[in-house]
Amino acid sequence: MCGIVAYIGQKNCVPLLLEGLRRLEYRGYDSAGIALVQNGSIGVYKKAGKVAELVSAIGASNGELKASLGMGHTRWATHGEPNDTNAHPHWDQKREIAVIHNGIIENYQVIKTKLAQEGHIFETATDTEALAHLIGAMYERTGNLCSAVRMALAEVEGTYGIVVLSKHDPDRLVAARKGSPIILGVGDGENFVASDAAAIVDHTRQVVYLEDGEVAELTREGFRTMTIDDVKTDKVIQEVTFELSQIERGGYDHFMLKEIHEQPETIKNGMRGRLLIEEGNIKLGGLQHVMGRLLSARRIVITACGTSWHAGLVGEYMFEQIAKIPTEVEYASEFRYRSPLVNIDDVVLVISQSGETADSLAAMREAKRKGATVLGIVNVVGSTIARESDGGVYVHAGPEIGVASTKAFTSQLTVLALISLMLARQRGMTKEDGIVLARELATIPDKARQILENTEHIEAIAREFKDVKNFLYLGRGANFPVALEGALKLKEISYIHAEGYPAAEMKHGPIALIDENMPVVFVVPKDAIYEKVLSNLQEVRARRGRIIAVVNEDDHEVEKLAEFVIRVPRTYGFFGPILNIIPLQLLAYHMAVARGTDVDQPRNLAKSVTVE
Ligand code: F6R
Repeated sequence: MCGIVAYIGQKNCVPLLLEGLRRLEYRGYDSAGIALVQNGSIGVYKKAGKVAELVSAIGASNGELKASLGMGHTRWATHGEPNDTNAHPHWDQKREIAVIHNGIIENYQVIKTKLAQEGHIFETATDTEALAHLIGAMYERTGNLCSAVRMALAEVEGTYGIVVLSKHDPDRLVAARKGSPIILGVGDGENFVASDAAAIVDHTRQVVYLEDGEVAELTREGFRTMTIDDVKTDKVIQEVTFELSQIERGGYDHFMLKEIHEQPETIKNGMRGRLLIEEGNIKLGGLQHVMGRLLSARRIVITACGTSWHAGLVGEYMFEQIAKIPTEVEYASEFRYRSPLVNIDDVVLVISQSGETADSLAAMREAKRKGATVLGIVNVVGSTIARESDGGVYVHAGPEIGVASTKAFTSQLTVLALISLMLARQRGMTKEDGIVLARELATIPDKARQILENTEHIEAIAREFKDVKNFLYLGRGANFPVALEGALKLKEISYIHAEGYPAAEMKHGPIALIDENMPVVFVVPKDAIYEKVLSNLQEVRARRGRIIAVVNEDDHEVEKLAEFVIRVPRTYGFFGPILNIIPLQLLAYHMAVARGTDVDQPRNLAKSVTVE
């Protein structure tokens, strides 16, 4: 979703801002812009389309622009179509103050109407312009940029991560946050603001996370933070742990492919130091202090969105079958608004790659408000969900840049498996059984590597089916969510309509769709319900559906029914989804490449959905 990068220092910030915007491209956006304070005035340059179009529009690549105070923004349209006018930064009435903004100002119409009565003229369809004008109006009263921002924000309803600069103040940047992440980057004689550490990590690793309701004033020498009511706040400088190489493509054509291939390593990272094989047990430091509450929980409610929700569905099978704990899974967007019956006996587990998804965060806060213990399974270290939860587990997948989530999903499943085994041991599973499961978990990274060693047959399948219009994905048990996730991957990057279903549900409706033009992807490992899924395969075959099946390497039955088989190593049933999804990620990727879509920046999608 929208991205922010800003700089105040000694250097020419133009290349730095444009590079920062490029690093934020993965979040999803449809226009980009920068504002620079130069010689007592502000220059705003903005353009619909990609950062490359902004660069060529302003000729910045030729080094024509120079400024040591500036800010840049990538916009993902909410209010008003993605065109040059609606792109950020936005001006105040006098064109003396510029604002970039992530989030949504809910009462922007009220603000606009009031200011219009005072003579303000608005040029864009955005909510942000209303905020910029409001800050301008407050500046008229106070003559102080930071106070003007605080006073304006006191009148605003909604969410924001903002940066503001003024032509009157060439030595100051003001930033603020409510519901949309803002990070300060601390340098030597220079300071930064970003919505995401990826934008600034090649300049500084020292960061400060703003909390909701905080405002920051940055100069070249330092920064100070306060609440909107001007109460000073104390901040701790933290260190960003990931490496620059982790947010670069490293020889792969796309981030998505790189991240698919990282999975043997990222799955292993999720287990490192946590899997105690000889004890048949698991150590998760972030859950030790809430273990009592976890063990006495009436139930676990897992809540999440999209791919993370699919991980939650697999988690439900793991928690109920391995740890024998009643578990429910809810879409965060539904959970937050349906007044859920949650109380202090419940544990609510939020799964989120970014740790910033607006619906997941709101669901977590709602559960917390009702007294539940809230835990997070999160990838991005220091993200809001990680900070606001009572405890949790980082998945340690490293930065995920590809908009279609891949490695975060398998890492989430890995952590869910670890939690299940840990709880199972606490609830009476024998050490011997624990050792068997722990040993099996330890084999998963190598088994993932085997899948990735030979992928040409998956490319061939993708070429064969690249022009079809619809796909059906079927699986049962813990592989039903794998079918859902496989279908989601296909539709989001190749724009082919795909649906996931529990295989046995097919005959209650979707079977009407099956004919010789309908490819059906089956996930059919040799598990307890293998024979049942074989019957579902027969039903599709009888109607001439074209079957692609993900099977175990020693399977010789499915090949008699399927047109194509993709083989994966065998594992314990509930760990199977960690492996079975990998060929489906590759299938979606190669279909998208064969169809020529922009895999890393699929249309309309945002990496981190920080608005409702
Ligand atoms: C799909 C995808 C999304 C996210 C969803 C939740 O590939 O990435 O469906 O899974 O937006 O995001 P997080 O996990 O960051 O809360």
